[in-house]
Amino acid sequence: MNPPTIPVVDVRPATTHFESIGAEPAVTRIVDAFYRQMDTRPEAREIRAMHGPDLAPVKAVLVRYLCEWLGGPKHYSAERGHPRLRMRHAAFAIGAAERDAWLACMHAALDETDIDPAMRDTLMQSFFRTADWMRNNGR
Ligand code: HEM
Repeated sequence: MNPPTIPVVDVRPATTHFESIGAEPAVTRIVDAFYRQMDTRPEAREIRAMHGPDLAPVKAVLVRYLCEWLGGPKHYSAERGHPRLRMRHAAFAIGAAERDAWLACMHAALDETDIDPAMRDTLMQSFFRTADWMRNNGR
């Protein structure tokens, strides 16, 4: 008698967040909108001032980081190693106000790019956790 066959269950998600939001072109639109928001929102003035005048280099890095974070290609780690985001942000004084300004820019950027609202809320919850963990000045 043949042994019973064990069904093979593929536990990988059918699509990643990266694919379902529209891959790299969508991530690039979000990052462009995000830094445009940072350039113009009054509450983001302080976090904008932490960046250099030319946002192009950090834009390119954030696109690669977010593509990877959403389940897309791992170009960020290949180029920059482990993200160690808390360490990379240690030079900037980040408290609740800075966290909230960052999140406001990202929320507005996601709205600008017509992302599905349920996906926007899922992403915002994750961004909140990351941004909150970046706080380093106890405010
Ligand atoms: C909490 C408020 C935050 C502030 C004030 C902040 C500010 C900054 C600043 C000033 C830089 C350096 C820019 C430059 O090199 O000119 C930076 C880099 C970066 N930030 Fe943030 N950030 C925040 C939250 C976040 C969050 C939540 C994420 C990810 C979801 C993130 C991802 C990155 C990445 C990937 C880089 C580039 C790191 C690298 O050099 O490899 N940041 N951020």
